[in-house]
Formats: sequence, C-alpha cells, structure tokens
Amino acid sequence: GIGYARGRFVGLDEPVIPIEDRAHQFGDGVYEVIRVYGGKPFLLQQHLERFWRSAKWIELQLDRSLQELQELIEEAITRAGFSEAQVYFQLSRGIVKRDHAFPNVPSHLSLTVRPVNLKKWEKGKEYGQHMILVEDIRWKHCHIKSLNLLPNVWMKQKAIDQGADDAIFVREGVVTECTSSNLALVRDGVIFTHPANEHILHGITRRFIMENAHQIGIQVREETFSSDALYDADEVFTMGTMSEILPVTKVMDTPIKTRYKEKQSITYQLQQLLREA
Ligand code: PDD
Repeated sequence: GIGYARGRFVGLDEPVIPIEDRAHQFGDGVYEVIRVYGGKPFLLQQHLERFWRSAKWIELQLDRSLQELQELIEEAITRAGFSEAQVYFQLSRGIVKRDHAFPNVPSHLSLTVRPVNLKKWEKGKEYGQHMILVEDIRWKHCHIKSLNLLPNVWMKQKAIDQGADDAIFVREGVVTECTSSNLALVRDGVIFTHPANEHILHGITRRFIMENAHQIGIQVREETFSSDALYDADEVFTMGTMSEILPVTKVMDTPIKTRYKEKQSITYQLQQLLREA
C-alpha cells in the first residue's frame, strides 16, 4: 500500500506524523473509508460529501476543496495500482502543542490505499455472522464519522473474545447498528432499519439499499426495532463499505432463520444488486 501525509506521498511505514497530532492525542478529527472496485472508487461523491459534513459538524476546516481531495484520492489509487482496494483518509485538527481548546493551525489530511483482503469476508458470506448484543455506550453524535472509535473497537474485540464475529449496539432496548456497519432486518418482505438520526452513522451502503431495493420489489422502512425483533425476523443483514452486505445467522447463541443462500432471499438479492452496481 501507499500513504499520503503532510502534503506528500509516503511509504506506509515511514514515520511522518509528529507525536503532537491532535488525531492521536484527542481523536480530534473525522475519517472516511472508500472501496475501490476495478480501479474505480465506488460512490466517491457520497463519501466526500459525508466527510465534508462530518468535518463541518465538529467545526473542522478542510485544508483543501472537495475537488482537490477527489483528485488526490484518484492520484493515490493510480499510484497504488491495485484494482481492488480500500482508501482510508482522515482529517486531524492539526499538528500543534497539546491543548484542549481548538488551535489556530491548519488541519492535517492523511490517507492510505491498501489492497483488499477478499478472503477476510468470504467466511461471513458463506456462513453468515455471529453477533453478540452490547449496550450502545457511544455518545449522542454517532452520525459524525469521528476518529473516536473506542467503543467500536472495544465491542468488536469483546465479540471476538466470545467466539462471535461482531457486536450489535442496543440503546435503551433499541437496535442501532454494529461496530463498523449498519444493520437491517427483513420481516414479511419488508426491510427495517434504524432511522438516520444522531444514533447511527448514515451509512452509504445503507443508503444505496434504501435507494435501490425497489429494483427487486422490496420496500425499506426507517423504523426502530428492539433486540427481540431480531429473533423473529426472516432475515438479518449488515451493510458496510468493506463488508458490503453480510447475513447474520446467530445472535447470542440463537440462530436466525435467514435462508440467505437461497436465491430468493432478500439478503442474497441485495448482494447481487450491489455487485452489479
Ligand atoms: N465503517 N456504522 C458504523 C459505526 C461504521 O463505522 C460504518 C462504516 C458503517 C457503514 O457505513 P458505510 O456503508 O458508509 O461504510 C455503519 C467503516 C467502513 C470503517 O470504520 O472501517
């Protein structure tokens, strides 16, 4: 893979970021993850717009225009030369002596391009994911793609330690999302997913499904549901840039019905829809 930091392209192991970067001292910044298919970034514009919104919400000024950022991303993809890749980029509030108040220094953009490990998701596609339920201990601005991911990484590890694949966040009895993907359930041929408010990240894969499910004759409803509803669902699946659409086959040791391998399952049809796009 390749990197970009402090205004130039670098090797991924080059020590280019000083100790006093607010991204790693405070988690003071925002980020995005984009999937590259066949050398082309998928839904790039939507990711750029969300990045811009995330930055604005925390009063963080971009150090360049979105057009310039797009050109940088495209150049990085070309330089890296991978056809299947992940582009990660983040904006830190800057490199400056540690002080809680916002400093008056330029923000700092860094980026990586790495090849995608397709094997990583094969197991989930084949067997589905096993999930644990955890309390959503995150803050009330989950729509901001903030660098602060402690609850997410902590709960992901907790799931793995318990022999599961990932964790589903539950806030006051309501299912919100997973540690790095959104969640939906299918009941009587209708998809239900948590409304796009401040309790979830407004996922771009989720939005793709909301905008395209009608192509397979399916309706999507943005409605909250309880963790109990997962056990009664016909299908449960996750949505995310890297994991795409993955079936959930077990929640806390209870199997979910999901007949995801059957071609008529909605999960399978949505996977095909995303693949085609
Ligand atoms: N995660 N919810 C959370 C908490 C996420 O971190 C993500 C993405 C999503 C799905 O959003 P999208 O469809 O736009 O990728 C939902 C990225 C991939 C990550 O942190 O690696």
